[in-house]
Amino acid sequence: MLIVVEHPLCSHDIAIVRDRRSDSATFRRAMHRIGLHVCLAATQHLPTQPTNVETPLEEATCSIVARPIVAVAILRAGLMLLEPMLELVPGARVGYLGLRRDEATLQPEQYYRRLPPLDERSSVVLLDPMVATGGSAAAAVEVLLESGARDITLACVLAAPEGIARLSASYPALRIVTAAIDRELDQRGYIRPGLGDAGDRAFGTE
Ligand code: PRP
Ligand code: URA
Repeated sequence: MLIVVEHPLCSHDIAIVRDRRSDSATFRRAMHRIGLHVCLAATQHLPTQPTNVETPLEEATCSIVARPIVAVAILRAGLMLLEPMLELVPGARVGYLGLRRDEATLQPEQYYRRLPPLDERSSVVLLDPMVATGGSAAAAVEVLLESGARDITLACVLAAPEGIARLSASYPALRIVTAAIDRELDQRGYIRPGLGDAGDRAFGTE
């Protein structure tokens, strides 16, 4: 399932992250705000259960989230979506996956993994702003499936059609939430028009 977030404020911030003149601080702040939109949409499906709460006046029937939520950030760029996710779900458990795309082969290499316990009851929100070939997201989904997760939602900001097609074909049950679908991948595996290298722009590396 593919969800494209549509909101004037989100579109506004996408213009800021695409703009080459945005410095790292401006870029990270806009990513944070976009993260609020995509993380809200990525948690829209969560089941709830009724609960009774005593207000100062009487008992009220409320609903609370019925599943343990796990946020998994793909390092490095996924860190920008982790804070907005935790703002929305302060009680989420957090995992980290370090994946680096080899510039020549475009294959992801894993250099770090630290995940909380996962099982079929966990609702996992996988965080990475960029889905280009889809290789990094696919590697992350494989790790999550091996670790016992079944309910997985990928929250991203820009996705290439090639990456979406690959992920949808390999993982039909994966939910993908993105703020935009771009035109194409170029020969170097960059998303066009894109925003460049998200990690480098966020953290001032090259
Ligand atoms: C970027 C991005 C994704 C990946 C997307 O990370 O954050 O993880 O590339 O490309 P793909 O869909 O073709 O796999 P990168 O490997 O550049 O690492 P970084 O975040 O540390 O810069
Ligand atoms: N990773 C990025 O950060 N940007 C791209 O365009 C492709 C992969």
